[in-house]
Amino acid sequence: MTHLVSVRDVFGIDTDLAVPALTEPDEHVPEVDPAYRFDRAVTLALLAGFARNRRVLVQGLHGTGKSTHIEQVAARLNWPCVRVNLDGQLSRMDLIGRDGVVVRDGQQVTEFQEGILPWALQRPVALVLDEYDAGRPDVMFVIQRVLEQDGKLTLLDQNRVIAPHPQFRLFATANTVGLGNLNGLYHGAQKLNHAQIDRWNIVASLDHLPPQAEAGIVAARVPDVDADLIESMVAVANLTRAGFRVGDLSTLMSPRTVITWAENVTIFGDVGLAFQLSFLNKCDDAERPIVAEYFQRCFDRELDEPPVRVA
Ligand SMILES: Nc1ncnc2c1ncn2[C@@H]1O[C@H](COP(=O)(O)OP(=O)(O)OP(=O)(O)O)[C@@H](O)[C@H]1O
Ligand SMILES: [Mg+2]
Repeated sequence: MTHLVSVRDVFGIDTDLAVPALTEPDEHVPEVDPAYRFDRAVTLALLAGFARNRRVLVQGLHGTGKSTHIEQVAARLNWPCVRVNLDGQLSRMDLIGRDGVVVRDGQQVTEFQEGILPWALQRPVALVLDEYDAGRPDVMFVIQRVLEQDGKLTLLDQNRVIAPHPQFRLFATANTVGLGNLNGLYHGAQKLNHAQIDRWNIVASLDHLPPQAEAGIVAARVPDVDADLIESMVAVANLTRAGFRVGDLSTLMSPRTVITWAENVTIFGDVGLAFQLSFLNKCDDAERPIVAEYFQRCFDRELDEPPVRVA
């Protein structure tokens, strides 16, 4: 059962659209995060995915909120949502299933145990393939089959064809758009077959937000930290991103790291120490002076000066 909900009321986006939400509760529906801020374009893309059964791939730098964005849209639509990480560990058998030994009436019998793909296909579930660009080729070819128009999955050794449930949905997130590890940030990112990319109906992009929007997200997440302080923290993050773009730095500060930094400020009560522990120590030795200078520029004090109590 579904009912319509207003996109304006539920997502705070200025539109008259209404989208279906599921009526029955389910243990796989993610919990609503009231602090989550929806990006307009990404939200509309994801809603097309849910409402019109489009395959949506969300692409963007690390820690920009891709995975949680899908989860939070699902949470608001009461749509069960299951995330699978396509890292190098996941095999074709994990996806499809395998024969396993089970005990039935006191007897050990061999029985086919469905993998995550047939399990999800038969349910009203949004399946999110995280790190889509890290998937192994054998795994990708299995997925390619359900990306076809009718999305049926054939279990060859089972002699079974599984047709998708009308409310089954498929999403993916990736750091790259299938061109591999071009900028050196994403080890393990594979070059994707273009026949693969072609099968995604919508590609949404979620990258760094304007400073005010990012500060708003951090403030919503970590309300105990002062707004001015958050503004300076986001400014540091943006300097690292600019530094990365021109080749001064080999890393950059993700929105996730800014949130972690703010959380660490509430733990240590010192923005400089929290910065060292959340980001500086992840940087290459040779680049630390540059990063320390970014801090100095935004906070008007040296990193190694005695702490200013902030929380
Ligand atoms: N718009 C937002 N509102 C509130 N919190 C956000 C928002 N965007 C990101 N976050 C927070 O930032 C963190 C990182 O988000 P998430 O894990 O979804 O990023 P990601 O893009 O999937 O990263 P990766 O590429 O590393 O998988 C999470 O804690 C998330 O809650
Ligand atoms: Mg993710």
